[in-house]
Amino acid sequence: MVISAMKTAIILLLALKAYAEPTPRTLNSLCSYLDDGNETVSNLGKTKKCFARYLPELESEGATWSQGYSACQKDTTSERQSLLTNATGAQEEIRAAALDMSSFIDQCLALTESLDFFNCFAKMAKLQLANVYSISFNATEQALILNKKLSRIELEHYRCTNQTEQKYVKGTDKIFRSLDQCLQQSDTL
Ligand SMILES: *[C@@H]1O[C@H](CO)[C@@H](O)[C@H](O)[C@H]1NC(C)=O
Ligand SMILES: *[C@@H]1O[C@H](CO)[C@@H](O)[C@H](O)[C@H]1NC(C)=O
Ligand SMILES: *[C@@H]1O[C@H](CO)[C@@H](O)[C@H](O)[C@H]1NC(C)=O
Ligand SMILES: *[C@@H]1O[C@H](CO)[C@@H](O)[C@H](O)[C@H]1NC(C)=O
Repeated sequence: MVISAMKTAIILLLALKAYAEPTPRTLNSLCSYLDDGNETVSNLGKTKKCFARYLPELESEGATWSQGYSACQKDTTSERQSLLTNATGAQEEIRAAALDMSSFIDQCLALTESLDFFNCFAKMAKLQLANVYSISFNATEQALILNKKLSRIELEHYRCTNQTEQKYVKGTDKIFRSLDQCLQQSDTL
């Protein structure tokens, strides 16, 4: 009985350390509970009841946190996916324009006659300059838009996890206070 209660208390201490700012009072009462070698059997029974009552509540808070966290994760992933999918149109246009230029250059490179070769490249500026500017301009614009939207998604993700975290901290804090009160009552009985 003592061993299993100690195990429970140690798990609680670890949970406190891992997730929430432990309220010193709770920590103290848990520690004094562990240190007390001369608990009466009836006190142990009451202590056990406290844990039996509040541990499931803590577990439920943990499950809620976990669900909230994965919901945030899922939203972020799908928003990113949607954003990148939306960008493929512009990406394809730029790719097509670049390939067009590339095939023009390839065609000039394939010419062996010097005059044809020079003439071909001489025409390049006139024909392709607009293309180069269009590629550069559109790519710059797209990169800016993507960056802005990705930042917004990141911020949204932070807000979502922050909220989940706050709810968890508040929820567990309330439960720990109740548990603390329950333990103190069993101490004085
Ligand atoms: C046991 O409990 C009594 C009364 O609550 C206290 O005076 C005593 O110091 C305790 N003994 C130990 C070893 O903690
Ligand atoms: C993607 O495009 C659709 C339709 O234009 C729009 O409803 C959606 O909000 C866009 N997604 C993102 C992340 O910009
Ligand atoms: C650049 O964007 C304009 C306007 O959206 C579009 O008409 C043009 O085809 C695009 N050009 C390239 C190379 O992406
Ligand atoms: C995160 O939550 C805390 C507590 O509610 C709040 O003070 C803080 O402003 C939040 N941060 C953001 C970026 O929402």
